[in-house]
Amino acid sequence: MDKIELITGDALEELKKLPSNAADLIVADPPYNLSKNYKATHDSMEFNEFLNFSRRWLVAADRVLRPGGTIYVFMGMRMISYMYSIFETEMNYTFQNWITWHYTQGLGKKRGFSSRHDDILVFSKQGGKVVFNLDAIRIPQKYYRSINNMRGANPGNVWDFSHIHYSQSDRMKHPTQKPEGIIERMVLASSNENDIVVDPFSGSGTTLRVCQQLNRKVIGIELEPSFVMETKERLSKPFYGFDSIDERMLRVPNDLNDPKIREEYFSNHINWFLHNHESSIEKFINAFISKYHQKISEEEYRYIDMVAKSHGVSNKKIGLKGKQISLFS
Ligand SMILES: C[S@@+](CC[C@H](N)C(=O)[O-])C[C@H]1O[C@@H](n2cnc3c(N)ncnc32)[C@H](O)[C@@H]1O
Repeated sequence: MDKIELITGDALEELKKLPSNAADLIVADPPYNLSKNYKATHDSMEFNEFLNFSRRWLVAADRVLRPGGTIYVFMGMRMISYMYSIFETEMNYTFQNWITWHYTQGLGKKRGFSSRHDDILVFSKQGGKVVFNLDAIRIPQKYYRSINNMRGANPGNVWDFSHIHYSQSDRMKHPTQKPEGIIERMVLASSNENDIVVDPFSGSGTTLRVCQQLNRKVIGIELEPSFVMETKERLSKPFYGFDSIDERMLRVPNDLNDPKIREEYFSNHINWFLHNHESSIEKFINAFISKYHQKISEEEYRYIDMVAKSHGVSNKKIGLKGKQISLFS
């Protein structure tokens, strides 16, 4: 297959044409039945019709997923328990996790609590080896040298990512574009390079963009032709880092008191946690300097300066032991 295949069509039909047991990972973000305008469809079905639609695409996806393969399914609160039940009672899949995507902004309600999360079910198909690459998705520890694993912590199953705001340059026209950082974590955790990822409801192409950058083969299916066009444009753009990051990736540990460990940590942090997030490096460097500026020697600053410049960060003035020092210029 090509590295990226983008199919315009109905997932119910197109999944049937893919080979059996071919996908290592399925990332599915289907309509939530919340009356969104997806042009070709309006995301509004009777309850039983929606359940039936969900069952049909899940059965079609099951044939395509290899034994041991993982499937992530995004779903809103109203329908997620029914999807869960299909996996457990009808498909005999193995439960892996229930992830909460917590977002800080959204519609304000006057009556009742405002919604601030969507959820993601993670199941695997029985009969094969399940991939979970923890080292690829760790987040920085709050404390570096203690009983903690220095390589970083497990990100847990509550994920904080902002929506991609309409004012952001990488916001597409699609009404429910997902943050690339979320899909990045799924793809890194549950597949390896050159594996095959399938997204049956690819929308603006978030999964395709992520797989393009992470060296996975990917097949996307989308019913609405204008979203397919949008995806093609997105895939042809130069890459400057994913459009979103878990804020915890910028966390600077509190106990980097030894200069040697601090210097070693500094470059490790960028390599481990900010790979593919070039645009967040400046924020991390600023946080690092504001936490440790009393302790950092001029020599250490020169090192930080060199690393900063190599990532295109420039022109920062910082206070070093009472003096104003011009950095990265
Ligand atoms: C929640 S959105 C996916 C958004 C996507 N994850 C992104 O980041 O842009 C669901 C998508 O499924 C598409 N869709 C709805 N019914 C479909 C079907 N039967 N087959 C394929 N795509 C469908 C909609 O047009 C919409 O783009």
